[in-house]
Amino acid sequence: MTGASTGIGKATAIRLAREPATELVLVARREGLLRELAESLPCRATFVAVDLTAEDAPRCLREHLEAEHGGELQLLVNNAGAAWRAGFLEGGYANVNRHMELNFDAVVRLTEELLPLLRASSPSAIVNVASTAGRVSRARTGAYSASKFALIGWSDSLYAEERPEGVHVGLVLPGFVATEGFPAAELREKALTRWIVSKPEKVAEAIYECGPGGRAERYVPRPYALAAIARILLPSLTRRVLTGGAASDLTTTTGSE
Ligand SMILES: NC(=O)c1ccc[n+]([C@@H]2O[C@H](COP(=O)([O-])OP(=O)(O)OC[C@H]3O[C@@H](n4cnc5c(N)ncnc54)[C@H](OP(=O)(O)O)[C@@H]3O)[C@@H](O)[C@H]2O)c1
Repeated sequence: MTGASTGIGKATAIRLAREPATELVLVARREGLLRELAESLPCRATFVAVDLTAEDAPRCLREHLEAEHGGELQLLVNNAGAAWRAGFLEGGYANVNRHMELNFDAVVRLTEELLPLLRASSPSAIVNVASTAGRVSRARTGAYSASKFALIGWSDSLYAEERPEGVHVGLVLPGFVATEGFPAAELREKALTRWIVSKPEKVAEAIYECGPGGRAERYVPRPYALAAIARILLPSLTRRVLTGGAASDLTTTTGSE
């Protein structure tokens, strides 16, 4: 479980810990938060404090799984991620690269390292936490959207390749969910928009459904799927809505800024 120190990852660890005979490996950079969570869970939980963009992070996690959990891996949840809002001219390639390194490359590198363990432990599953922003782009979120679009495209292909090997690949596409990294403060402070912001616990349930539950994908909240459908069927209208007067409210400030 990557990105387990806060938000969706922490809620998912708590959700998974309710299942019988679960053992968890919690991964993020902040060791204190991981230790605190591991000690509070009702199942066996170990942790690895690591920056997932570091060269040796995947190897380090595989070695931990082999040494502490006998190399068993039934579920990999690629959830760690972040967003740094910037227009393209302002953020440039550097901002695109920063998003790709964490939200895409780190996921691909970790999956490559752990896929042999997942195959050996099959039936098993991978859940990649993308975003509704991986279907629909807004101003100042281009770099984030690019990383999540890439993650979705790659995940669908990986599903097709790994299905015969007994490794399911599911996708979860959250919309606005109030967390440390994505506080959605602008939306939560107005009565008119507060209702569109969801909770990490709802995403945790979707992650369970798309992993052990074998579902293909889930938007959270579910009606966010309409944005993706509109993007395909009504591209001109979608562009007009996303560049209209109220559209700037939908590009919320993130915790990384
Ligand atoms: N909340 C939303 O509105 C929303 C919407 C769509 C998609 N998502 C996606 O959901 C996922 C979880 O986000 P969240 O909302 O739960 O945000 P969050 O509370 O900020 O959680 C992000 C997690 O990723 C970890 N992380 C960040 N950079 C890392 C790195 N370099 N190496 C290792 N771990 C790292 C963080 O822990 P440390 O800081 O301790 O490393 C934290 O545990 C992300 O992929 C995000 O893109 C969120």
